[in-house]
Amino acid sequence: MNAERLAKARELLEAFPQKSSALIPILHLVEEEFGWIPEEEVAVVADLMGYTPAYVESVLSFYTLFHRQPTGKYLIQVCRGLSCQVRGADELSKFLYEELGVQRSGTTEDGMFTVEAVECIALCKDAPAVQINLEFYPDMTPEKMQAFLDKARQEVPSDA
Ligand code: FES
Repeated sequence: MNAERLAKARELLEAFPQKSSALIPILHLVEEEFGWIPEEEVAVVADLMGYTPAYVESVLSFYTLFHRQPTGKYLIQVCRGLSCQVRGADELSKFLYEELGVQRSGTTEDGMFTVEAVECIALCKDAPAVQINLEFYPDMTPEKMQAFLDKARQEVPSDA
């Protein structure tokens, strides 16, 4: 973790009456910084909290919201909950897999996009819903998704 996040992690440790309560928020700090949880950071967190790396790993293995591999610059999470499924989530996922040439949980070769299927993201009334990084996108369609992808691609120089 960088110095700023390490300071935040120490603040979190102080803020919770039981240090175990700080573990998940601290892991979120790591995920925020790297976009995933590298093994070296597991050791940093374990050391900070006085746990073994194996214990931190066991917690990580329980929570699917933490990534153990690098993700793309844009992490596209398509809700696969019931409301979204009946309103087109499967078609949306299929569109993304074809457009980006990836499989489920796959990342494009250029490292731009990762596509995941996730459980309900609490936008059921505006299904199908998608989360991209920290932003929520209700009433998503393949057309809107295409517009997002086009815009994101324009942000990166073609020779990058
Ligand atoms: S089922 Fe998709 S947001 Fe709830």
